[in-house]
Amino acid sequence: MKHSNVLLCRDLPELSRKAANEFIRLANQSVKANDRFIVALSGGSTPKNFYSLLATPEFTEIPWPKIYFFWSDERCVPPDHPESNYRMVRETLLSKIKVPEQNVHRMKGEDRPELAAMTYQRTIQEFFRLAEGEFPRFDLILLGLGADGHTASLFPGSPALRETQRLVAAVVTDFPPPNRLTLTLPVINNAAHIIFLVAGSDKASALRDTVRAKNDAIDVPARLIQLREGNLIWLVDQSAARLL
Ligand code: 6PG
Repeated sequence: MKHSNVLLCRDLPELSRKAANEFIRLANQSVKANDRFIVALSGGSTPKNFYSLLATPEFTEIPWPKIYFFWSDERCVPPDHPESNYRMVRETLLSKIKVPEQNVHRMKGEDRPELAAMTYQRTIQEFFRLAEGEFPRFDLILLGLGADGHTASLFPGSPALRETQRLVAAVVTDFPPPNRLTLTLPVINNAAHIIFLVAGSDKASALRDTVRAKNDAIDVPARLIQLREGNLIWLVDQSAARLL
């Protein structure tokens, strides 16, 4: 993966501001072209600051009613659970902006995982009006990076890494909560834009192994994120970039 798409940020606040500006640029570009902007949001803690920033009065030129929210992954917990990615986005962003409820498509973490994965796949297929075998093209997918090189809920050694047909997979991980739902690689790699948000010293090895590794021997799921036709950027802070 080339280095040129790695944008170094001083710290998390600067990373969050760059992410907000890029989100707004892409949203307005997409709404101008297609009258909508379809985004899949990342979970975890890194994007919290960014989501909160987007909700501040400083950013007024966001066409919220034309933005459609999906998630890159979810934990299999109820939507009001402290570990829920939906809850995190609701608290940091959705509860503070005027977006129609029908624009928000959360993964149903409270359901049986395989059922929730099938339900979300059908939600995506209906929204994008896909025929069987077709993949959605999200305007933007936001992703994080785990210290082990996972992204979304695609973990090292997971069978989901070999999924070529389904849009959404139910996976089991060693990190609590163990059951998760994730967009699959064919979906992620079909996006028009991807922004990775990576902050913290604990991500430095995984980031180096993802953006600099030469051979394919390393089992780093984030390295499998290779856009078919689109633009991918890494927003990283100095701590995460210390080994680059
Ligand atoms: C999740 C995320 C996951 C996350 C990374 C980084 O559900 O936790 O989708 O892939 O992005 O684990 O998490 P942090 O941002 O908390 O470091």
